[in-house]
Amino acid sequence: MPDNSEKLLQMRNKHIPQGPFNVTTAFVKEARGAIIIDVDDRELIDFAGGIGVNNVGHCHPKVVKAIQDQAEKCIHSCFHVAMYDAYVKLAAVLNQETPGDFDKMTMFANSGAEAVENAIKVARYAKRRPAIICFENAFHGRTYMGMSLTSKAKPYKQGFAPFASDIYRIPFAYCYRCPFGLEYPKCNTVCADYLEEYITSNVAPEEMAAVIAEPIQGEGGFITPPPEYFPKLKKICDKYDIALIIDEVQSGAGRTGKLFAIEHWGIAPDIITMAKSFAGGMPLSSITGRSALMNAVHVGGLGSTYGGNPVSCRAALAVMEILLKDGLLDRSVELGNTLLARFEGLKKDNEIVGDVRGKGPMLALELVRDRETKEPAVEETKALVQRCFEKGLILLSCGNFGNVIRTLMPLVITDEQLDRGITILEESLREVAGG
Ligand SMILES: Cc1ncc(COP(=O)(O)O)c(C=O)c1O
Repeated sequence: MPDNSEKLLQMRNKHIPQGPFNVTTAFVKEARGAIIIDVDDRELIDFAGGIGVNNVGHCHPKVVKAIQDQAEKCIHSCFHVAMYDAYVKLAAVLNQETPGDFDKMTMFANSGAEAVENAIKVARYAKRRPAIICFENAFHGRTYMGMSLTSKAKPYKQGFAPFASDIYRIPFAYCYRCPFGLEYPKCNTVCADYLEEYITSNVAPEEMAAVIAEPIQGEGGFITPPPEYFPKLKKICDKYDIALIIDEVQSGAGRTGKLFAIEHWGIAPDIITMAKSFAGGMPLSSITGRSALMNAVHVGGLGSTYGGNPVSCRAALAVMEILLKDGLLDRSVELGNTLLARFEGLKKDNEIVGDVRGKGPMLALELVRDRETKEPAVEETKALVQRCFEKGLILLSCGNFGNVIRTLMPLVITDEQLDRGITILEESLREVAGG
């Protein structure tokens, strides 16, 4: 008798701890493009993309081919033991494609959190300074440095202290719930100016190695700063010789209609981290930065047994080709426009939708009980995700209150699948809002 979800779920609950959470009870049999088929042969439309990992779609033929081809030749030699071309070729592509007309170098790790760890190591070492600034609502991973930089206490930090030291946190540009109680654009983006006020009154700039920010805060609720924000941050960082690290783990690889989300703000960060979608589902992350920073660390100070595994690097080279040469960035822009129009319509017709924000198809709906008080509609959001799943749509929430719906569907989703998915979302939203 074939395994079904119920039987596997029982096994899962017996053998696996509760800590590694599950958003749905689905067990995957196979997945293609934007569709997951579960072991009970249920078809699910995927608006989660494995938490932002499947921008080029599940099992993209070019990625599968690259993986098969490399797996037949060499699965692992360890870059530190015997090098291979895919590592250096992928580094060259990233050095070329990341924003900034200056010499860059790239190294690889396995996960987003590891990319963040390495970016902080590089910045601290190169600047010979300890302090790091991060932001409220930020998420940078589940390792100790990742957690230390992360904002949301529950569930990410509670019970895991003590955390890394010399970490300072300031408010982000969360316009819908402005931490300064102001309104854009009258506010004159004082939230960005606050960085300078903070570092000159709380930590000596001479002690400050880096500022780390997501261009669009992912787990924090797809919080999308106004156009002036990052140019202002960069200017302050430059003034005090502080490295600006932009964490593109969730927002990169075409998610926002551009290869890197930070391109929307027209600045060139000193270091960029990437992971998730850029290897099409294989574990891989990158740290790309100014050569002067990246090359400062002594030989052997950086590395990892699996980091930049040849199969993952070959998959990532295929993803880069799909994004840059096969027109998937254009599709991302088109998808973003369609989604935005539908989401604006949802906001018009449903009081529960307080805010629509994001860039390209990295879009979010913030749900509130009351548009005046902005009371987070937490239970309704949970019910919405569950309702959508029952109707065949995998959807993820996010946000510090858990009241934000985010879209991370594969960019190869067809118009028909997209329409079906949004229609399920619309119907379910009306149901949970009681409309
Ligand atoms: C912006 C950002 N940084 C880092 C991470 C951590 O990535 P990983 O789960 O691969 O360690 C995530 C994961 O969601 C993320 O969104």
